[in-house]
Amino acid sequence: MAGVHYAGVSHRYPGADTLAVDSLELDIADGEFIVLVGPSGCGKSTSLRMLAGLESVESGHIDIGGVDVTSLAPRERDVAMVFQNYALYLNMTVGDNMGFALRNAGMSKADTAARVLDAAKMLELEPLLNRKPGKLSGGQRQRVAMGRAIVRQPKVFCMDEPLSNLDAKLRVSTRAQIAGLQKRLGTTTVYVTHDQVEAMTMGDRVAVLQAGKLQQIASPRELYDNPVNTFVASFIGSPGMNLIDAPVVDGAAVVGDIRIPAPTRDPRVTVGIRPESWSLRERSSAQSWSLRERSSAQSWDLVGKGVGAVEVAVELIEELGAESFLYGAPPLGSDWSTQSGRVSVRVDRRLSIGLAETVRLVPKLDEVFFFSATTGDRL
Ligand SMILES: Nc1ncnc2c1ncn2[C@@H]1O[C@H](COP(=O)(O)OP(=O)(O)OP(=O)(O)O)[C@@H](O)[C@H]1O
Ligand SMILES: [Mg+2]
Repeated sequence: MAGVHYAGVSHRYPGADTLAVDSLELDIADGEFIVLVGPSGCGKSTSLRMLAGLESVESGHIDIGGVDVTSLAPRERDVAMVFQNYALYLNMTVGDNMGFALRNAGMSKADTAARVLDAAKMLELEPLLNRKPGKLSGGQRQRVAMGRAIVRQPKVFCMDEPLSNLDAKLRVSTRAQIAGLQKRLGTTTVYVTHDQVEAMTMGDRVAVLQAGKLQQIASPRELYDNPVNTFVASFIGSPGMNLIDAPVVDGAAVVGDIRIPAPTRDPRVTVGIRPESWSLRERSSAQSWSLRERSSAQSWDLVGKGVGAVEVAVELIEELGAESFLYGAPPLGSDWSTQSGRVSVRVDRRLSIGLAETVRLVPKLDEVFFFSATTGDRL
């Protein structure tokens, strides 16, 4: 087992004028589960493939267990890769697929069989060892691919979107299995996904990349509570944070009728409000929210005194079971909007709010974020 260090690592594909990965600096502890996450094309796979030795390093170096492996061939690095497309050998049994690399490396039949059996037990594949991959479900094939990596007992696992071929429900159960397995094995793991929910639920720490550059590496909670910039703030969280470019007048950000004291002397600021950081005000008409909701709205009237409220015309209600999200936009003629053009709000699922209705929202002041309107960095 071993930690991994990316020391200012860059990669440029032939003929490209920008770097696919730009001066990546990452320290991964022995046994840690790190997730690389970011939008398509941000450099996740390239970063992982450099660690596995499948892409060259243009500048900087990579250490595994304190040893510089930058110029070593893939097979000399003791790294096992699991890809989205696991490419099992269709004419071999599950057991032979799992043991193939070991036999190739000269391990005896008996030792190989023992390791394969161990891994098969861990992955609940024992009853399937003699089956061929064509007769397995997607989830089972995925576990065989994991098994192939596990039997090698490598220093580092590299996984590139290994769950992409699974349906939504299987993804959820398999991601829990992989995270649990990784903890039991204690093998340092670098895991790539574009899915922020997967990243947040699996990683000890999550590294967020954008356009080849590392934006932030932190625990899932820290990423959510303390995003360093607007990119991380909007990428992490589902739906992402509402980002509102607002003028600053007399020290307060102005969003519709809302005035929020802002920690900046700049004339503009980007205000960040998570979907759960809005409170619904009472309806202006005689109708009111349910009693419970009204009392919380009233307490917000006190806390939010002087802050003001904004109106949002409801366009869509997404009912997820335990919670609901309301999406809307400022009514026509409003002088504010979010960067995405949409306002998202988490609401009590028991509230009945109709489409085209207008709701009044008050931000929870102590949950509001501020970012530089010019750089996007957190203030
Ligand atoms: N073989 C290649 N030749 C040239 N450019 C490439 C090659 N592979 C990737 N790139 C470019 O390098 C950048 C990073 O690609 P990479 O595959 O690392 O992204 P990614 O984050 O894994 O994206 P995805 O989520 O779509 O898999 C992209 O701009 C991509 O177009
Ligand atoms: Mg990729």
